Amino acid sequence: MKTNPVAMIAGTGHSVPEKTLTNADLEKIVETSDEWITARTGIKQRYIAPEGVLNSDLSAEAAKQALEDAGVLPEDVDAIVLGTVTGDVNFPATACYVQEKIGAVNAAAYDISAACSGFIYGLNIANGYIASGQFKNILVIGAETLSRIVNWEDRATCVLFGDGAGAALVQPSKNGKGILSTYQKSDGRLAHLLMNPGHYTGKEYFDSNKEKIEPYIHMVGREVFKRAVRCMGEAVEDVMSSAGVSADDIDLFIPHQANLRIIELLFGKKKISMDKVYVNVDRYGNTSAASIPIAMDEARRNGRIKDGTLCVMTVFGGGFTWAATLVKF
Ligand code: UT7
Repeated sequence: MKTNPVAMIAGTGHSVPEKTLTNADLEKIVETSDEWITARTGIKQRYIAPEGVLNSDLSAEAAKQALEDAGVLPEDVDAIVLGTVTGDVNFPATACYVQEKIGAVNAAAYDISAACSGFIYGLNIANGYIASGQFKNILVIGAETLSRIVNWEDRATCVLFGDGAGAALVQPSKNGKGILSTYQKSDGRLAHLLMNPGHYTGKEYFDSNKEKIEPYIHMVGREVFKRAVRCMGEAVEDVMSSAGVSADDIDLFIPHQANLRIIELLFGKKKISMDKVYVNVDRYGNTSAASIPIAMDEARRNGRIKDGTLCVMTVFGGGFTWAATLVKF
C-alpha cells in the first residue's frame, strides 16, 4: 500500500421511510411494466417519504445510528456535512435541522450540492478537516427525498428514484484503517443532461426538442448512462493506482445504485466478478446522495464489510460530478 490513512469511518447508519412503492404500484400510475423496469434498471421497489416525513428526519435517524455505532455523543460532533439536492427548505441547510434534531449543539452544520456524489464529496471534506487537525468528529450524511421533485407523469424518470438517508461518523485514523485514496471530478459542460431547474429561476431551460424543462428531475438517460460507466470506471482505476493496489486486492466494490445494467457493464469491462460488487438497487432504486452510504451501512451490518475489508466506493451524478474512494474498514 502506497498511502497511509488520516481519517477513518468509525460508525455508520441509514434510514428509509416505511412505505415502499413497487413496480406493480407504478403500473397503476404511469404506462409501464414490472418487466420493463426490471429489465432496464434492476429496480423492484423504492421507499417513498409520506407527507410530514422530511429529509432531516431520515438524516437525523441515520446520524443517530452512526453516532451510536461509533460511541460518540452528539455534543462531541464538530461538523455535519450533508450532501443533498432535496433539502427540507431552500435555506437554511438541512444539516442545521439535523443538528437540532440530534442535539449536536457544538457542531458547524452545512449542506453541499453535488447531486449523487454528495456523500463521497463530503467524505473528502471530512478527510481534509481531519488532515488539517481542525476537527475530530465529523458526521457526513447523504440524504434525499427525490419523490418530491419527480414528475409522477413521466415514466422515463419516476420509476427510477427513491428516498432515504445514510450517514458516517469520520474520525482520525487508528490501526491503519481509513481513507487510502480519493478521486473527485466534475464537468459543468454537461449540466443540462441531468438537472432540475426548480421554481425560483430567473431563466427558462429547454431540452434538445426545445421543450421547456419543468421544475422536476430532467434526465437524458442514455447520455447519463454512457458517461456513468466511463467516469466511474476511471475513478475506480485512479483510486486503486494511487494506493498501489489492484482489483484483486479489493474485497468489495460499492458502486452508485442507479441502474443494475450500469453496474454490470462497469465491472464486466474490468473483468471484476459481480460476487465482489454490492447491489441493492433492486430494493431502494436510485437514492442519489444516499445511495452509497445506505449500501455501505447495509454491508457493514450484514457482514459484507468486516474489520480489514478493503472497499472501493464510486459514484456518478448531476453536474456531472463523479468520485471514488478507497477505504480500509
Ligand atoms: O443517479 C444519476 C445517474 N443516473 C443514471 O445513472 C441513470 C442513467 N440512465 C439509465 O439508467 C437509463 O438510460 C434509463 C433506465 C433511464 C432508461 O433506459 P434506456 O435503456 O436508456 O431506455 P430509453 O430511455 O432509451 O427508452 C427505451 C424505450 C423508449 O421507447 P421507444 O422510444 O424505444 O419506443 C421509452 O419511451 O423505453 C420507453 N420507456 C419506458 N417504457 C416502459 C421509458 N421509460 C419507460 C418505462 N416503462 N418506465
